[in-house]
Order: sequence, then structure tokens, then C-alpha cells
Amino acid sequence: MSDVRVKFSLDKEVEEELDVFLPPAPLLAGAHVSGLPSYHDLYRSSINDSDRFWATVAAELYFEQGSTKGLEWNFDVRKGAPFTRFMSGARTNVAYNCLERNIKRGLGDKVAFLFEGNDPRDASKITYNQLLEKVVAFSAVLRTRGVGKGDTVSIYLPMISELAIAMLACARIGAIHSVVFAGFSAESLAARIVDAKAKLLVTSDGVFRGTKPIALKPIVDKAAELAAADGCLLPKVIVVEHLKRVSLPDGGKAPQFGPSCSHERDEEWEAAMESVKGVDSRVEWMDAEDSLFILYTSGSTGKPKGILHTTAGYMTYAYQTTKMTFDVHHETDVYWCTADCGWITGHSYVLYGPLMNGLTSVFFEGLPSYPDASRLWQVTEKYKVTKMYTSPTAVRALMAVGDHYVTKYDRRSLQVIGTVGEPINPSAWRWLHKVVGEGRAAIVDTYWQTETGGHVIAPLPGATPLKPGSATFPCFGVEAVLVDSEGRLIEGPGEGNLCFARAWPGMLRGVWGDTDRFAKTYFSSFPGFYFTGDGAKRDEEGYIWVTGRVDDLMNVSGHLLSTAEIESALAAHEKVAEAAVVAAPHDIKGSFPYAFVTLNQGERLTPSLVAELKQLARTKIGPIAVPDIIQQAPGLPKTRSGKVTRRILRKIAEGFDNGLGDTTTLIDESVITQLIAGRPSNA
Ligand code: PRX
Repeated sequence: MSDVRVKFSLDKEVEEELDVFLPPAPLLAGAHVSGLPSYHDLYRSSINDSDRFWATVAAELYFEQGSTKGLEWNFDVRKGAPFTRFMSGARTNVAYNCLERNIKRGLGDKVAFLFEGNDPRDASKITYNQLLEKVVAFSAVLRTRGVGKGDTVSIYLPMISELAIAMLACARIGAIHSVVFAGFSAESLAARIVDAKAKLLVTSDGVFRGTKPIALKPIVDKAAELAAADGCLLPKVIVVEHLKRVSLPDGGKAPQFGPSCSHERDEEWEAAMESVKGVDSRVEWMDAEDSLFILYTSGSTGKPKGILHTTAGYMTYAYQTTKMTFDVHHETDVYWCTADCGWITGHSYVLYGPLMNGLTSVFFEGLPSYPDASRLWQVTEKYKVTKMYTSPTAVRALMAVGDHYVTKYDRRSLQVIGTVGEPINPSAWRWLHKVVGEGRAAIVDTYWQTETGGHVIAPLPGATPLKPGSATFPCFGVEAVLVDSEGRLIEGPGEGNLCFARAWPGMLRGVWGDTDRFAKTYFSSFPGFYFTGDGAKRDEEGYIWVTGRVDDLMNVSGHLLSTAEIESALAAHEKVAEAAVVAAPHDIKGSFPYAFVTLNQGERLTPSLVAELKQLARTKIGPIAVPDIIQQAPGLPKTRSGKVTRRILRKIAEGFDNGLGDTTTLIDESVITQLIAGRPSNA
């Protein structure tokens, strides 16, 4: 790879010298888009002649019925309710495009997934033909248990084959899947079951995370109980007996979690599959805008939002961004995205995108740190992975433990290494490039959201000169703009709120069951634009640098959390009068939740109360929401209108003693001195 040192100014005050990394020569040769001028040409046509551009992409997929329509949208709330449509009138099916379409073009015996278990001894593979057979069978299970087109199915599974099968089976019959990350608490799961009105839920008895056995079925039982109390009866639960087939960590004992099917509504997966032997289950042709899935993400108000994705647009976009961002070629690539299907990255870039591209991919149940910190590189060597996709948090954690974990395995197969979920700091970027990729691989920092369906700002491995820490340029069809606080466009270099000025096929179509929230969250801040909630800078060469959330969401290890949701979990404690949670910087996680709590008269924040509060966050949301630090606050800094000034709390949590900005609008300035003095020594 050639390194060119160039100077450019990111910030007017700080002139920094940064490296620009040109695309590696071997990638340039066979790339779908080769060289920056080709990117610019294609990008221009994707904007100026967007319908034709997307029609060409869609033509690579199968449509039972085509459409002459392209994108239609309204982003301007002053003109009516916002909406997006793509290929109106077309009919297709996403699972068909993942499976039968590939089988028909001769890929039936090709391996679709290389399943790599939590324990390295647990590995298996499945071809496209075999996967189709399982998907058809499970879709028959769903149908015979009363699930049909438009019904919702909750899935609460670890990263095992049944997760992929269940998602595809839903897509095959037009049921809407709602995957809930199997690290969420019973309360979080219950809220998602109720909101989605799930007709059926798929889970497993449990899972090992490293050496730790985790019972999942009891969480589901509790969630079903809570959902029933909330008026939503879950009629059916299918349980995968996963624990009995896993190799136990050395010295470990088989966990006893009780019977996996303990209730009338429960049915064991294999028995259910057996019961539909020989039953055919045809593909349901879906309208372009029929719902495909909902996936919950944190919302500023505290209540999670069910992000709705539909059929033709999501399908076309997941297919095309996988193809472009990783420059995939099914004949030669072994692809691996380490994400969990509980998040959007797993939907678009573990399941749908790679399958539609006919790839062989690793499907990983494990942890980067188990059995030790070399797991990612050991698996890379084992399967000769060519394209890999992971998170900056994982990269930082692995970087911290030393290069020898990396260098003892052969990584010469790696051509592209992607990251997602949060800004990647230049030092982690450089480590990936130099140590992991040995200077040979292109690093692709991909910016996107649950809402965007797929990458919206990302480099192309064979085209984009890279700058460490920048997600570079907008993807095809995406018009990324920066606007100031008044909603005015910022042209050229500058900093502002990151928005999109036009629709792209993969964008969300709504918030499940809440049209107003859809309009309010994404389109009301800057009328005419979709607002991401992120801030960003643009340099003289048009490179975009996403700086992070500018709203009340925080990004912990690449996962969005709502400060309001954690606050209400803490405030549920009888001794807590009020809580305010802010993001504080963390070397590995990017940021962590730092909580300030005001206690009722006479109460003190003892270690046992801290433990109780942490437990509340764990049970109400999940382990990722547990604040690392909880500080007692004699009062919270508030404006005269009673609004907590988080800006000041954030500075205090970051360790600042002064330079807190304007404090004159506060009712009681002395609170700040007390908060600084009361900062715990580990803060
Ligand atoms: O703040 C941005 C950050 O993650 C948010 C989206 O989170 P979520 O919907 O959970 O989806 C994560 C996986 C797509 C964004 O609003 N984010 C994601 N990728 C990046 C990023 N921030 C900076 N750089 C990125 N590459």
C-alpha cells in the first residue's frame, strides 16, 4: 500500500499532519469501483439520475413483479407527513433473494455460513441448499402455529444457526421479525414483545458467553409474565435446546437451568421441525413497501423505538452496500462480520447483505476475548477470511492486550477490515492497518444507523484514499449535508449537524405504531432534512468526520443508550429523588454512563445502595446500561425553567474543574462546586 503524506487542516486552529492511505494496488485491479474518479462519476449519477441508478442495482436481484417507480419521498414536515417509498408496485421476497436466487445461479452447494461456536471446538457449516431446507421447514412451523403475513415474531436467541433460520423463515412468509439482543433484561424484552404484539417468540435454553453460562429461557418466562400483565399474551414460544450440544469450557459443568419447555405454550425447536416434515411452505411475494422487520433502538425520551424496515428498499440497499463497501466477489471471498444479529449490523451485514451476494461467511457465536484475545485472528487464519467487519471497541480492547495475540496467526488473507458503531480513533485505525492488516488491507470506517438500514458514509476499498478516523464520503444515492443550529446548509469545510437531504432505498419507513414520533425524531429539527442526531466535520477535500451524538443518546461500546431510560431506571429506587446520566469518555468503550443521583432527605449513597442502583439498571435495561460511576449529588444544576444542564454535568464527569461554560443561568451555581468536590476518586 502506498502512503502519501499530505497536509490538510481539519480544524482552523490546529494544523495537523495526517496520512492518507491510497487503495491497495491488488484491490484496485478487480474492484467493482476502481479509483476515485469512478466513485465520483457513479456518485453523481446516483444523485442526478437516482431512479435509473437504483433500477440497475435492483436488476441484479429477483423481482416477481417489477416497477417503473423509483424513490418517492417527503422530508418536509411543513408539506405533510414524511414518507419514503421505493419501487412502488413491485413484488419480491428478501429470503428468496438470499436463497433460491443463489441456488438457481449454481451456488446451492456453496457454504453459506461457517458457524463458529463460543467454544472453538464447536464449528459446523451449512450450504445454501441446506439452509433453504431448514428455512422452508421453520417457515412451515411458523405457519402451522398460526403465524402469517404481517404478524410479528420476537426472536431472543444467541448467535446460533437457528437465529439465521428464524429470521429468514419470517421473511419467507412475510412475518415481521423483531430480534431482541439476547443480553437485554426480561423487562426490556417484555416491553418489546408488548410494543410489537408478538404472536410467537423463538429463544434458546441458554448460551455460554466465554466460560459463563447464561440462562435465557427463564428471562423469556419472566418477560412473558410481564407482557401478560401488560395485556399482551404471548401464545407460543419455540425453544432451541442449545446447551446440550455445546462443548463445555474446560473444567466447566453442564448448567442446570430447569426444563427448557416448562409451559403449555413452549415447544422444542427440533420437535417442531419434525412435526412439519414433508410440509411445503411457499414463498410469500411481498409488496415493495410491505414490512420486513422491526428493530428496537434507544430513543431520547427513554422509550425504545421500533425502527421499521420494508422489503424492496432495504433488500436493494443491504445487497448493494455489502457489495460496494467490502468489494465482495462470491467466487473468492470469505467474509466475516463479528456483530450479533440482535443489532442492525447483524441484520444487514451478517445475514441479508452477505447472503444476497452469495458469499460464504463466518457466523460467530463467541467473544473476541475467548479463549483468549487471539480468537479473531485464529478464526481469520482458520477460514482464510478475506473481508472482516468489527467494532472500534473490540479493536481498542485487543490493541490494549498486545500485538503478539495478533501476530501469532496468519492474516495474509485479509484484504478489507471494516469498523462500525462509533467513531474510530486514529490510533486504533492505525493499529488495525499496520499490525492486523500489515499495511496490505484497506480499512473501511463505516458510518450508519439502525435507521439508515445500511452504510451511508463509507469508503470503497478500491477507490477511496483513506484518512484515519474519517468515514470519508457518502455512499451512492446518499446526500449528506451539514446544517447549522438554524437549519442552514453549511457549504465547504465546517462543522454542524449531520443530515441527509434526500431519501435512499434502505432508510427506515417509520417508528412502529408511532407516526408522530417518526416525524418528530427525524424530521422536525431541520425541516426538509433527515437528522441523524450526530455532529460531524467536513474538511477541504470533502472528507466527513463524525464526531458523535449531539442529542441525549450515548454510545457505549458501539451501542446506543438513552440517558433518559437509565435515569428513569435509577429514579425507580425509593431512595432516589432525581437522577441525571451523562456520557463520560472511556479508553475501550468509547464512553460510559456516569450517573448523578439526588437522594431523598437523610439518605446516603452507601456501597450497598450503589450496588442496588446498578442492579436496577441491569434488570430494567440490561448489563450494558449499568453506570460505571454513580455519584451522589446534593442537587442538579438546573436552569430557571427547571431543565438539567447536562452540558455542565458532562464536563464534570469528564474531570473538568473549570471551563464549564456559562453557569450564570443556573438557579444555584454553588451546586457545581459541590459536585466537583464530591467526584469519586475513581472518576
Ligand atoms: O452516533 C453514530 C454511531 O452510532 C449511531 C447509530 O447507532 P445504531 O443505530 O445502534 O447503529 C450502530 C450500527 C450501525 C450513529 O448515530 N456510529 C455508527 N457508526 C459510526 C458512528 N459514529 C462514528 N463513526 C461511525 N463509523
